[in-house]
Amino acid sequence: MPLIQATRYYANTTKNQKTVEYTVDKFPGYVRHDHFKKLSKEDVEFFKSVVGDNGYIYNNEDDLFPFNTDWMNKFRGKSQLVLKPKTTQQVSDILKYCNEQKLAVVPQGGNTGLVGGSVPVFDEIVLSLQAMNKIRGFDSVSGILTADAGCVLEVLDNWLAEKGYMMPLDLGAKGSCHIGGNIATNAGGLRLLRYGSLHGTVLGLEVVLADGTVLDNMSTLRKDNTGYDLKQLFIGSEGTIGVITGVSILTPHRSKAVNVAMLGLNSFEDVQKAFKQSRSELSEILSAFEFWDINALQMFKKHATPKAVMEQEYPFYVLIETSGSNKDHDDEKLTNYLEKMMTDGVAQDGVVAQDETQIRSLWSLREGFTEAMGKEPAVYKYDISMPVNKIYECVQDMRQHLKDGGVYGQEDSPVTDVVAYGHVGDGNLHLNIAAKRLDPKTSSLIEPYLFEWVAKHQGSISAEHGLGVAKNEFLGYSKSPVMIQLMKTTKNMLDPNHILNPYKVISNF
Ligand code: FAD
Ligand code: MLT
Ligand code: ZN
Repeated sequence: MPLIQATRYYANTTKNQKTVEYTVDKFPGYVRHDHFKKLSKEDVEFFKSVVGDNGYIYNNEDDLFPFNTDWMNKFRGKSQLVLKPKTTQQVSDILKYCNEQKLAVVPQGGNTGLVGGSVPVFDEIVLSLQAMNKIRGFDSVSGILTADAGCVLEVLDNWLAEKGYMMPLDLGAKGSCHIGGNIATNAGGLRLLRYGSLHGTVLGLEVVLADGTVLDNMSTLRKDNTGYDLKQLFIGSEGTIGVITGVSILTPHRSKAVNVAMLGLNSFEDVQKAFKQSRSELSEILSAFEFWDINALQMFKKHATPKAVMEQEYPFYVLIETSGSNKDHDDEKLTNYLEKMMTDGVAQDGVVAQDETQIRSLWSLREGFTEAMGKEPAVYKYDISMPVNKIYECVQDMRQHLKDGGVYGQEDSPVTDVVAYGHVGDGNLHLNIAAKRLDPKTSSLIEPYLFEWVAKHQGSISAEHGLGVAKNEFLGYSKSPVMIQLMKTTKNMLDPNHILNPYKVISNF
């Protein structure tokens, strides 16, 4: 089926091969597990016989660089081989061989992950799903889509748009991330508030296990209560227990009427009031409720040109999206809500997008924070969840903590800004600490302090980006010893040789 081109997003364009440090040099302490075999010429010959002459990259530093380096240019591995299988059978043949030979493998989707999970730490083989990008089928009555795992999210969404449907998730990386990668990370994104998590919308998966066994669980059923729901294990497993090759997902109808508004507010108290009111006034048509602070806006302005912002600046902003089927009805509801917010003094100013272009520019402001942060010399990136009323307390506490620690607040301080944005509706804060460089004093002031804070408030150290290599050692702040032990048992059962994405999520040799 013909696919529509998607926009690719790139970050840190000023950095290149020479300036991105290797993970093992930047974060000493990683030790290559010596039970993994080193790649031999014979291995490469075998892989060539599976994927063909155009299905691999070997020993070419320049061509390997984008597969070895993560989106933030923070993590860099030393793989000598990228494999690009085209079929599930090829993935199975590759894994069977790797398991027998004890060759370590990193599954890779669009490589937009933000926790270093998608790139090797040492010389792991990169198994890229980018050549598995076919739509398998679509049922226009039920809205169930089946597709290869390597389909780009935006490509799928554009394809569904022509049929009046949409993908149930949306994120700033949509032009590059794969649906398989989204499922492997259990990505949340901008519309989880309305369409729920992938644990609900994914109906089935095809997964190749570490020993090459193909688990065909490509169910297209909404209801199936026969035993354990095995696919759930792979949602959010970050490539550590299987390679997702096929996906069956429930897609909602594309809304005919979409409105986007942005409000300027004086306090996080007001952000909460605006959110609470939006749930009761906009109820079923509310499809997104996002927030950011003035620091995030200023960071965006430093690195990009916002097309649509208010004349005056405010300490906080929210973006509200409604999606429904009756424009007049939705317009009236939104107008009433916005008037109430202004007359009650909850919001100080507001703009409503008048057309598709203005909707796009409001969204690109919100979606642009990640890229703007990526242009800073260094960034400590956090993705935490907690009760909504604690979100900004966490940001203020961190600012004070860094000042008290002597790394923030002065001209020559290493930390230059503490920026907050996120998915208010999901209690999900993206706390971004910009710095002149990554230094041990700042790192040790932030971690584990932040994770202790989060745990104290019954939050999660990763709401949506996952653990990867960036957060794996802190898993204990969000999961009990019993749960971690069960995770280890599961890993040992499904990947006894630990060939899948070693050093990530749980390392239990
Ligand atoms: P990759 O980065 O390639 O891989 C991520 C992890 O999944 C790795 O551990 C990898 O080994 C594993 N993996 C990938 N494909 C497979 C597969 N087929 N089988 C098994 N394992 C696999 N995340 C959010 O949750 N919400 C957001 O709003 C959001 N916004 C973002 C905005 C920007 C601009 C950027 C750069 C990132 C954003 N992210 C967000 C993070 C990232 O885009 C998501 O985690 C995304 O789901 C990763 O998909 P990917 O295909 O790029 O996966
Ligand atoms: C977002 O919500 O913008 C993403 O999760 C990416 C980020 O945290 O920067
Ligand atoms: Zn997010």
